[in-house]
Amino acid sequence: MSTFVELVEKRRSIYALGTDSQYSKKEITDRVREVVKQVPSAFNSQTTRVVVLFDEANNKFWDHIYDVQKNVLEGELWEMMSGIMTGSKNAIGTVLFFEDKEEVEKMPAQGVREEAYKQNNNANAQYAVWLALAEMDLGASLQHFNVGYEQGFDKGTKEMFNLPETYEMLAQMPFGSVEQEAGAKEHIDADVQVKVFDK
Ligand SMILES: Cc1cc2nc3c(=O)[nH]c(=O)nc-3n(C[C@H](O)[C@H](O)[C@H](O)COP(=O)(O)O)c2cc1C
Repeated sequence: MSTFVELVEKRRSIYALGTDSQYSKKEITDRVREVVKQVPSAFNSQTTRVVVLFDEANNKFWDHIYDVQKNVLEGELWEMMSGIMTGSKNAIGTVLFFEDKEEVEKMPAQGVREEAYKQNNNANAQYAVWLALAEMDLGASLQHFNVGYEQGFDKGTKEMFNLPETYEMLAQMPFGSVEQEAGAKEHIDADVQVKVFDK
């Protein structure tokens, strides 16, 4: 049993993903459900919607992203990103993070505040799910292939899984067994990052 801080340290961006896990699809889904249920949201608005994809659904989602993004991304970016798309098909699945725009508009906030709450609601869920996956020894990364909205990326995904028109996709999190650990990462000075005052 690890402490919370150990879990926070354990969570990394893992790109080489496989399908080797002791957890069933139901166990993973149940854990995601439990965690998303407890995530805080502005005014308890609960605007975030999460979709978990496995197997064929995961493959067809990443095929769709690949098809859209090959007309959007170019050069080095395409070289780098297309590997993530094809690699995600070797994973166990993907968690898609949406905001339900209809619910977002019901929050007693407009303009930049509404946008901030929407992004923060979703980010809270993203991080909570990322930690929950890490706790199950599953690696994951956070992706933003939302670019391509105009090319029908978001619309195509909603059609694929019969999701409400009001859903706006904010992020994708492919997950699976850790086939290659993350490298060491640099940290800025802790005193710059966190300041403390007591008078
Ligand atoms: C808001 C945010 C956006 C990110 N977007 C991407 C992304 O689009 N693609 C990607 O591969 N990683 C993305 N990441 C992962 C970061 O690059 C990664 O968390 C960071 O380099 C620290 O590494 P670690 O996750 O291993 O601790 C994102 C992370 C955050 C918090």
